[in-house]
Parts: sequence; C-alpha cells; structure tokens
Amino acid sequence: TAAQKGGFDHFMLKEIYEQPQAIKNTLNGRVAKGEKIVLDKIADGDLKDISRVFIVACGTAYHAGLVGKTAIERLSGVPVDVDIASEFRYRNPILDKNTLVMVISQSGETADTLAALRLAKQHGCKTFAITNVVGSSVSREADFVFYTYAGPEIAVASTKAYITQLIALYIFALYMAQDRNYTDKETLENIKSELLLLPEKVKKALETDALTKEIAEKICVETDIFYLGRGLDYAVAMEGSLKLKEISYIHSEPYAGGELKHGPIALIEKGTVVIALNTNAELRGKMDSNIKEVVTRGARIVEILPDNFENAGEGCDELITVPATEAILAPVTAVVPLQLLSYHVAIAKGCNVDKPRNLAKSVTVE
Ligand code: G6P
Repeated sequence: TAAQKGGFDHFMLKEIYEQPQAIKNTLNGRVAKGEKIVLDKIADGDLKDISRVFIVACGTAYHAGLVGKTAIERLSGVPVDVDIASEFRYRNPILDKNTLVMVISQSGETADTLAALRLAKQHGCKTFAITNVVGSSVSREADFVFYTYAGPEIAVASTKAYITQLIALYIFALYMAQDRNYTDKETLENIKSELLLLPEKVKKALETDALTKEIAEKICVETDIFYLGRGLDYAVAMEGSLKLKEISYIHSEPYAGGELKHGPIALIEKGTVVIALNTNAELRGKMDSNIKEVVTRGARIVEILPDNFENAGEGCDELITVPATEAILAPVTAVVPLQLLSYHVAIAKGCNVDKPRNLAKSVTVE
C-alpha cells in the first residue's frame, strides 16, 4: 500500500533512500573511533587461526562479496576466494579447519547458499553468515552471525541490503586486521573514521537523483549498455549492470577496463552508452585511457567520479560526482547513482520496478 511506501512511488526508491539509516544501524555498537571492533558472540581468538576465507553467495550478495575480498585481503593479509554458491557446492573446493566459509544472504534462505554452508560444515570449516533476517536458516546454522540492519527489503532488486553487506564486510575486514599487524593502526583508524562518515556521504550521493533521472530519460531507449571499471569499481560495475538488467530488461554487461581490448571493444559503435566508474586515484590514469579508447569509437560516456578529482570528465557526455572517501570504501557511494539510474530507466520504460518479471526475492529451490 501507499502508506507502507512512506510517500515514495515504489519500495525500491524508498529503500534506496533508507540507505543512510541502514548504514548507521549496521555500524552502531560495532565501530567507534579509537576502540576495537567487537563482533557479536565472537570471542578474542576465535578467528585467530583462520588462514583462508571463502565468501560464498548469489546475485547481489555475491557482488558484495567481491568488494569484501579486496577489503579483507588489503587490510588483514588473509587470502580470500569469492564463489557463486551454485558453483562452490559442486566444484570440490579445498577446505580445512583453518578455512572460514562466509556466506552472505539477505534472506538467509537461498537454497544454494544454504547448501554451501552445510558443505563447509561437513568439511570442518568455521562458518560465518552475514544476513538481514534474524532467525533465518543461515543464521541458525552458521557458527557466527553478523546481522545487517537494513530492515525489511521488499523490492526484488536489492539496494539497502547490498549496501549494508558492504558495511558488514568492511567491519569484518577491520576485525580480521586488528590483531594481525598487517596494516598499521593509523590506517585502520582512518578507515574507521571514514566508515562513520558514510551515512552522511550516502545522503549526499542521493542528491544525484535528479541528474540520474535526466540521464535515464535519454538512455532508456538503448538495447545494450556497458559498465566499465577497474579494481573495486569493476565489482560495483557488476552490481550496477545487474540492477539495470533486473528491472529495466535492457541488456547490459560489466567489463574490467583492462579486458576491453580482449573482446568487448568490438561491440562499441557510434552512440553506444558506457557507464564508466572511475573512483580510484591510483587506477585513474589507466581508466582514463580505457575511456578514451571507447570514446574514439563513438561511445557516449556516463562517468561516475568522486568530487575531489581535478580536471575530471574529459570526453564524457554526462558526469556524476559522489562524495570522496577512502578508496576502499568508494563502492558505498558509487553504487548509489547506479541504483537510482536503474530505477529511473525502469520507470521511463514503464516497467514493474518492485516486481520484475521472472525474478523472485528469495530463491529457495535449486
Ligand atoms: C535473488 C534476488 C536477488 C538476491 C539473490 C540472493 O536472486 O532477486 O536480489 O541478490 O536472490 O539472495 P539472498 O537473499 O541470498 O541475498
């Protein structure tokens, strides 16, 4: 009903706007400046012997896992693999008691994710669940549980659950880092401070709403849209592309910038729309060259950038800026305009945004 939508036209838009609060709720009680990260029911030393992590999930949660891999590896030095649950369970992964298998599931009921969790337990691994639903199957079966506090997510396309999964993974990465002496304390403190600023920064990123609507009205007639990014931007490109295809039915593919030359550039023609994510100062030069390569072939570029890059956006048709943060946290702000863009494209096409065809909120059969 309209009332439940709190004045918004759709649950998806309402949930996008709830993200600052959802982040705040997920950080609350877990992250504080100058204090150690505390995780529910995990005692000091419980994860001390973990030498390897597998993150296993489906759909949007898998995309969150890809960001988690980089965060955990960079901050704690523990190697991380990320698997699609339906692949993991049938590929005989090498698992032992010092392996932590982390499942990420908004609903906590996805059949393949639950099966992956059970497989990990059979192998004697420690298991950790990130879920949004208290009492869900994964929360009951995993050794450790981290609840995201996104609140109920009704729209099939996940937004606030994804963003809180990212927050959960950053908190976990900081937790893994704090006693391992892999990253210096100052860097870790810095990331903590920046994490605490994310609710405000995401609120600011929501101001791209009107601009994304304008852009959506121009690109909604396309039949193919490409997303491009390097590093964490590539993981966000995957999520942006999924969001677009789920609710607007436009064919869309994400590519890593460096892979362009190995195939996808053959598809670029005059007028092809490319959404380019360019949030990382260290990778910016490389990404700028990738953008030039597609511009030369006639692509129209929508570029997503942090607001502290100078002389940005050369050759771009549309520029979307989001608040700058630590490079590792950039997915949190960068995904917001991509969510809004997908929403507005779907609206412009007259699609059923909250209940896209053929999709279910939670896939409880294999
Ligand atoms: C379905 C939903 C997606 C979701 C995926 C995993 O495909 O439509 O939005 O990302 O399942 O769901 P989970 O509840 O395990 O996160």
